[in-house]
Amino acid sequence: MSHFERQDGILHIEQISLEKIGQDFGTPAYVYSKAAIEEAYLQYTEAFTGQKHLVCYAVKANSNLGVLSILANLGAGFDIVSGGELERVVRAGGDPSKVVFSGVAKLEWEIGKALELGIACFNIESETELDQINRIASDMNVQAPISIRVNPDVDAKTHPYISTGLKENKFGVSRDLAMSMYIRAEALSNIDIKGIDCHIGSQITDLQPFIEAMHRIIDMVDELEKVNIKLEHIDLGGGIGVQYKDESTIDVEEYAGAIQQSLGHRKHTLIFEPGRFIVANAGVLLSQVLHLKNNEGNNFVILDAGMNDLIRPALYQSWQAVSVVKTAAAESARYNLVGPICESGDFLARDRELTVAAGDYIAIHSSGAYGFSMSSNYNSRNRAVELIVSGDTVHQVRKRETIDDQLNLESLFPSAFSYSTHDK
Ligand code: LLP
Repeated sequence: MSHFERQDGILHIEQISLEKIGQDFGTPAYVYSKAAIEEAYLQYTEAFTGQKHLVCYAVKANSNLGVLSILANLGAGFDIVSGGELERVVRAGGDPSKVVFSGVAKLEWEIGKALELGIACFNIESETELDQINRIASDMNVQAPISIRVNPDVDAKTHPYISTGLKENKFGVSRDLAMSMYIRAEALSNIDIKGIDCHIGSQITDLQPFIEAMHRIIDMVDELEKVNIKLEHIDLGGGIGVQYKDESTIDVEEYAGAIQQSLGHRKHTLIFEPGRFIVANAGVLLSQVLHLKNNEGNNFVILDAGMNDLIRPALYQSWQAVSVVKTAAAESARYNLVGPICESGDFLARDRELTVAAGDYIAIHSSGAYGFSMSSNYNSRNRAVELIVSGDTVHQVRKRETIDDQLNLESLFPSAFSYSTHDK
């Protein structure tokens, strides 16, 4: 069910008016529905009922502590790509033994910290990384649980920037290299082989590439058994797309059925790393109209949110739905919705039919994933406040940044922390 509905012409999130939220907390504001996050997570995990599995939410999609704590309370695992994300998971009450660590390169301290906390698995992406993790584990006198990320060379048919499973992408290793890495890994004293892993891309709306990837992985699992390398789990990554506009998406139950069918009689635990599916449609970016402007026949809505708050439209030409929070009975027109940033690429939506006036609140939908987590201070703008709504209650889970927050790490020139090569 949608947790964004109109009541008396005003768009609400769960039981609260987005107009009231704008008035009370200011804008830009990221506003998430707790119920929507929980429903999406439960839908995913329940699709695999009866099958040993672990849903590891991809923290990068939305790493707010409040969001992570909701998922930790439901028993979710987490997919991380940095020590910062690991710390967030721990502080949100997540269980480190349900954490998988992805990414093409991991820093020494990040590997050390993950070993110390006893994470479930390192998803390894190169031969040198295998050696690095073995060395650090050996120094710490522990065993490092690993899987190897295979690049299955399937076309996920998504935006080139978020496609990861083709051989020209930097991610994973080829089948042949993976096979030889497993054999080498077996001989390494501080490596404990746990599984195999792939992630073919993001915002995938077609089931076929997933099935193809699963077949290629299963084939490798069977080959490895022949040389007596037995894996405990298969990690298929994330990537299930959501509906932003009118695209038909993957039915999770159908996805679960197809994957389990490919698994057949095998007894492996399945691991998944969904990010967008869990949070994208659970959040809006709430913004206020500062000005309406007409340049030579082009209508612009100038918002107080810009590409620093939500970069997806500028970076991926992504389309996200836009609503005026309070409908008015005036005439509509077609607008480009832009932000205050000094770049022509600073747009949030283009060519939308809206009835709008200065001062109105605008909701940019499907902003729960890769929204705040990709935001920046470009143009020295404070990052947005983040709020989670549950029923008729609003929880502020991140304060609006202040200019002092932004400047605290900087100093004038010359600084008290100067360093000269003459000092050596
Ligand atoms: N696992 C790995 C190893 C990943 O690299 C990713 C996403 C995920 C899981 C989660 O994928 P999801 O289920 O969210 O599709 N900023 C882009 C998306 C980048 C995705 C990067 N990797 C966007 O806004 O569309």
